[in-house]
Amino acid sequence: MNLLVTGGAGFIGSNFIRYILNKYPDYKIINLDALKYSGNLENLKDVDKNPRYGFVKGDICDKKVVDFLAKKRPDAIINFSAMTHVDRSILEPEEFTKTDILGVQTLLEAARKYKIDLFIQISTDECYGSIEKGSFTEESTLSPTNPYSASKAGADLIALAYYKTFNVPVIITRSSNNFGPYQYPEKLIPLFITNLLEDKKIPLYGDGKHKRDWIYVLDNCEAIDYAIHYGKIGEIYNISGNTEKTNLEITAFILNYLKKDETYIEFVKDRPGHDRRYSLNSSKIKKLGWSPKYKFDDALEYTIEWYKNNQSWWKKIKSGEFLEYYKKQYSEI
Ligand code: DAU
Repeated sequence: MNLLVTGGAGFIGSNFIRYILNKYPDYKIINLDALKYSGNLENLKDVDKNPRYGFVKGDICDKKVVDFLAKKRPDAIINFSAMTHVDRSILEPEEFTKTDILGVQTLLEAARKYKIDLFIQISTDECYGSIEKGSFTEESTLSPTNPYSASKAGADLIALAYYKTFNVPVIITRSSNNFGPYQYPEKLIPLFITNLLEDKKIPLYGDGKHKRDWIYVLDNCEAIDYAIHYGKIGEIYNISGNTEKTNLEITAFILNYLKKDETYIEFVKDRPGHDRRYSLNSSKIKKLGWSPKYKFDDALEYTIEWYKNNQSWWKKIKSGEFLEYYKKQYSEI
C-alpha cells in the first residue's frame, strides 16, 4: 500500500509511521507535515533514510500541496494533522478551527477529486464530552466543551457528510488519552515527567480527581492499522486502553517511579470548562480482532525511561517556544 500520512511528524503520527514501516516491508509512506510547533522531524530521525519513506513540508490547509500529493493517488490518506492541546485551544481558538476543520475539508476535497479509496480521520474521545458514569459508544451524542474538542467534532461531521453526500470512503477513529515516546511535553504525562527530571514542581489542575482513560500510543497505532485493513467504510471506531485513572493516580505513579514526594505537586487554578471524566466503549473495534496489548504500568515505566534517556529531545523544546507560551496564564481569560 502507498499511504499519504498527514501530520506524521507529531506524536501519534510519527509513532504510526514507524509502526507501519516496521510491520509492512512493502508499504510506502509520504508524510505531509507543516512542522508547526509540535511537528518535529527529530521524531522520525530513525526512518529518515528509509527508501520507503518520504517527507513533504506543507500545510493541510494548502490546496496546492494537498492536490499535488492526492493526484499521485495514494491507496489511503490517514489524517493525524491537528492542533491538539486543550489549553492552547483556550488561549488561541482560531488556529484550531482553521487546521482541525478547514484543513480536514481541504483533504476531503482532494480525496473526492482523485477518488481516493480510503480516508482515515484520526479523532478523539473528547468529541463526546464528559461522562459521569458508563462509557460512550460510537452512537453517543457529540457534546464537545472546548474549542479543541469542538473543532475535532466539527471535522468528524464534515468527514461523515463527505461520505454520505459524495461517497468519500471515510472511516473515523476516536481514541482516548495516548501516552508514550515523542509526546510533546505540554500534555500531562510528559510535562510531569520532564518537570520532575528538572527538579521542578508539577501543576495539577483543580482537585486532581479528573479521570482519563489511558492508552499506550502503539496500541492506538495498531487499532488504526485494524481500521485501515478491516474497518467498514462510513463507520466510527472508538479506541480505548480501558485504563481509567485520576490525574492524582497518574501523578503518584510518576512521583513514586522518580523517587520524588508529594511536595512537588502544586495545585493550580482549574482549566476552564475542564471535562471531569472520559470513558469509551471500544467493543466495536474489538469485533475487528483488535485489543490493547501493553500493560499500563509497564508502558508508563517505559515512557518515563524514554524521557530520562532522551533529554536532548525535550530539553530543546522546553527551553524555547514552550516557556514563552506558558508565560500566558488562564488568569488572562
Ligand atoms: O482524550 C483524548 C485527548 O487527550 C486528545 O484528543 C487531546 O489531544 C489530548 O491533549 C488529551 O486531552 P486532555 O486534556 O485529556 O490531555 P492533557 O494531557 O492536556 O490533560 C490530561 C489531564 O491532566 C486533564 O484532566 C488536565 C490535567 N492536567 C493537564 C496538564 C497539562 C493537569 O492537571 N495539569 C497539567 O499541567
